[in-house]
Parts: sequence; structure tokens; C-alpha cells
Amino acid sequence: MIAFNKEQIYIVTGASSGIGKAVALLLNELGASVIAIARDKERLESMRAESKNPNNIYIEIKDLCDDIETLPTYIKSLKEKYGKLSGMAYCAGIGNATSIQSVEIDSIKKVFDINYYTPVFMTKGVIDKRNNIGSGTSIVVISSIASVYFDKGMSIYCGAKAALNASMKVISKEVAKNKIRVNCLSPSLINTPLLEDFTFDEEKSYLDSYPFGIGEPNDVANMTIFLLSNKAKYLSGQNYIIDSGGVV
Ligand SMILES: NC(=O)c1ccc[n+]([C@@H]2O[C@H](COP(=O)([O-])OP(=O)(O)OC[C@H]3O[C@@H](n4cnc5c(N)ncnc54)[C@H](OP(=O)(O)O)[C@@H]3O)[C@@H](O)[C@H]2O)c1
Repeated sequence: MIAFNKEQIYIVTGASSGIGKAVALLLNELGASVIAIARDKERLESMRAESKNPNNIYIEIKDLCDDIETLPTYIKSLKEKYGKLSGMAYCAGIGNATSIQSVEIDSIKKVFDINYYTPVFMTKGVIDKRNNIGSGTSIVVISSIASVYFDKGMSIYCGAKAALNASMKVISKEVAKNKIRVNCLSPSLINTPLLEDFTFDEEKSYLDSYPFGIGEPNDVANMTIFLLSNKAKYLSGQNYIIDSGGVV
């Protein structure tokens, strides 16, 4: 049985929707305190209203792409406000499907900002030993099946997620001496609003690609919670695929 206590404080980005919301609610239900970050105050408050222990959810409204370089300082300010961090579930992100002929530099920057630069700089802040509890600190970053399975129309999204996996692997090696764990999760299609960012090939049955069909946010949240917990104390530097065995 996985259990946390309220002195264990986790940052959850993207907590207003989809996977991040499921992670925030489950972490909170299992006893942890959650710093829930997103831009949409109303959706964050409605998430907190659904939670089992609303007093242990701290809402932070922030556009993570506003000033990416200062994110480590932002993490420091969260530590000063709430206490030392036990870890982070980085679940913010956007999708993108564009054929290479239509790719513009601005859309590449937009995708890389929230899907690559921001998780790297947030991680930089969390692994700073002044901000975390030391041994036992765990970081889980939601990547995507697109980091290892390269389909048409996905050059930018695949590029950002593959780069994210590579950087997280390197960071996991750099912080291993401090017994900090860093892992990526790579889900296939999950039933969240982000699916609207993609256009699907009508002729291709994605249900054939994924034997159990489209997943639910909790399918990813359960694995995230396990990796954050001490039960996963020997697991680091990995990218775990969540696709019911279909693609990879
Ligand atoms: N759904 C899928 O099929 C799927 C599959 C594989 C991987 N993923 C990955 O899973 C992660 C979560 O996606 P999801 O499906 O849960 O999508 P979602 O329901 O659309 O949630 C995305 C979250 O990211 C937050 N966010 C976006 N831009 C932000 C910004 N600039 N600053 C702060 N927060 C921001 C949004 O909050 P606000 O709008 O309130 O700011 C929202 O909470 C993404 O990295 C995605 O690439 C999803």
C-alpha cells in the first residue's frame, strides 16, 4: 500500500486538467501535500473542490512559459512558502500536429517552451539541494509515446519529447549521488482535452495500435504515484512506456 504524509510536499504542474489533475487528486488522497500549478484559477479551484483533503492542496497560478530562466528562483520561493520539496510530477504540456511544410519557427518555440525548456528548468530548481529533502526526492516527467514512436505530422512534438527524455536521463545520472530519482513516463493516447491538439488520420485505427484502446488519466497517475513513492526507491533514469503493449 502506497501512503504519504502531509509533510511530503510535491509540485504538480498541469494540475488543472487531464493527467496532472488526476496526479494531484491521487497524491492528495494518499496523504501528501500538493502545490498545484497551472494558469487557470477556476479549473484549479474546481480540482481542489473535488479533492479528499482540500487543506493540503496549495494553488499556484502561473504561466510557466512567462520567464523560463527564472523558474529555479520560482521553485526556491515555493520552498520558502511551503517547505522543502519531496519531488515533482511535471504534467503540463501542449500537443502539436503539423506537417513539416506548415511548420513555423514560432510554433516550434511554443511546443519546446512548455514541453522541453520548462520541465528542464523546473527540474533544475527541484534538484537544488537547498530546495528538496535530499535522499528520497523523486521527479516524474510526463513525456509521450511520441518520444520513441515517430509518426507523420509529429516532427516538432516528437522532437521536443525525445529531447526531454534524453535530458532527463542525463540529469538522473548527475543527481544519483544525492539519491534523487528522475524518471519519464511515455503514455500513448489518454482521454484528456489535449487530444484536441492532434488531428487523427481517419483511415488509421488508433484502437488497433493500442490493444486496450484509449487510456484514462488515472492509468498514468497510478504509475506516477508509484514512481514518486519510496516503493520505487531503486528506479531511476528510465522512460516507462504506457501504451498497453501496442506500439513499442
Ligand atoms: N493526452 C494524451 O494523449 C497524452 C499522451 C502522451 C503524453 N501526454 C502528455 O501529458 C502531459 C499532460 O497532458 P494532458 O493530456 O493531461 O493535457 P491537458 O488535459 O490539456 O492538460 C495540460 C495541462 O498543462 C497546463 N499548461 C499548459 N500550458 C501551460 C503553461 N504555459 N503554464 C502552465 N501550465 C500550462 C494546463 O493548465 P492551464 O491551461 O490551466 O494552464 C493543463 O493543466 C503533456 O505533457 C502531454 O504532452 C498526453
